Amino acid sequence: MKNKVAVVPGDGIGVEVTAEAVKVLEALAPSLRTSIELVHYDWGAERWLKDRTTLPEGAFEDLRDHHQAILFGALGDPRVPEQIHARDILLGLRFRLDLYINLRPVKLLDDRLTPLRGKTTRDIDMLVLRENTEGLYVGVGGNFKKGTPDEIAINEDVNTRKGVERILRAAFEMARGRRKKVCMSDKANALTYAHGLWQRAFKEIAVDYKDVEASHLYVDVAAMEMVRAPERFDVLVTSNMFGDILTDLGAAIVGGLGLAASGNIHPGRCSLFEPVHGSAPDIAGKGLANPLGAISSTAMMLRHLGEESAATRIEAAVERVVKESRVTRDLGGKLSTQECGKSVLDALA
Ligand code: NAD
Ligand code: IPM
Ligand code: MN
Repeated sequence: MKNKVAVVPGDGIGVEVTAEAVKVLEALAPSLRTSIELVHYDWGAERWLKDRTTLPEGAFEDLRDHHQAILFGALGDPRVPEQIHARDILLGLRFRLDLYINLRPVKLLDDRLTPLRGKTTRDIDMLVLRENTEGLYVGVGGNFKKGTPDEIAINEDVNTRKGVERILRAAFEMARGRRKKVCMSDKANALTYAHGLWQRAFKEIAVDYKDVEASHLYVDVAAMEMVRAPERFDVLVTSNMFGDILTDLGAAIVGGLGLAASGNIHPGRCSLFEPVHGSAPDIAGKGLANPLGAISSTAMMLRHLGEESAATRIEAAVERVVKESRVTRDLGGKLSTQECGKSVLDALA
């Protein structure tokens, strides 16, 4: 048996941070329970500019049937119109692989890193589950009379009973392994049809999890509470769009986007792991990017592959370099991307 992992560095700092994540993975490879094979793919803006390929023919089936995970950097390049490559590759894989759980931990590793006065590592440790296969992201809609003063622009918010139910159940299941609290966040007071479904499903499913405390906050209040009283949250479950926004906010309260990790998961299937940040054209190619989000995403990937002890080792090493300030400038350190990656390797050894 062998785990085959697709490595897709993508664009901008995606390339720089993925290189460091791969070094960590390679360093740990000999200690893994199951051997790992890394296969590198050049999908991204450069490839698109060269031959107009986004996700190559047959790639989706190959990932689905012959890979156990995808380690992903970031996609985004101003030279590609409407970021069609990101839509086809990243959103395409989330949808087509049916990766319905976007798992995004928000955990403060060191008191110094939060901008929230008086909050400590005891106060900020939450897990956000972002629905990842529907909502406003489905791409259902269109333009009418585009470019004229009478233009109409529509993106439909698609919510299915099945889609809502499975992400809510995943949240309750994960809460059982934590502090047994689930907060569901929506905007049912305005989006009565779409988020009315979330409310009804949440109430019904909560009955199956009587050991878990179920609560609700409208998303505007949830955003405020994440800043005012983050200690209220254990597991937070929400829709695709709200989860996107709340997890950048989550990153900001624990030290910034450079640290934030994520998994796009369908339990038991090929899943995709990536830092929460994008390609950061403003700092790309300068060795300034923080690789810790990508490295922590690698830990999440190993956990998905059943390599719990390797995952825990990486997380401990990341925590240690953060505490010792062997980090990049966004976290107040002096190291380059590569030096920070090296500090994690040293901490592992
Ligand atoms: P971004 O996340 O790329 O950058 C936002 C800000 O955070 C920038 O100032 C950047 O320098 C900083 N930052 C991000 N990651 C960092 C890191 N690892 N270390 C230090 N600083 C870091 O968001 P953006 O600028 O809105 O988007 C740039 C491009 O990336 C866009 O094309 C966008 O669509 C795309 N994007 C892709 C993904 C993805 O592939 N998953 C995610 C978000 C954005
Ligand atoms: C993210 C990103 C993507 C999203 C973009 C690049 C489409 O912001 O992964 O958080 O909105 O999901
Ligand atoms: Mn985002």
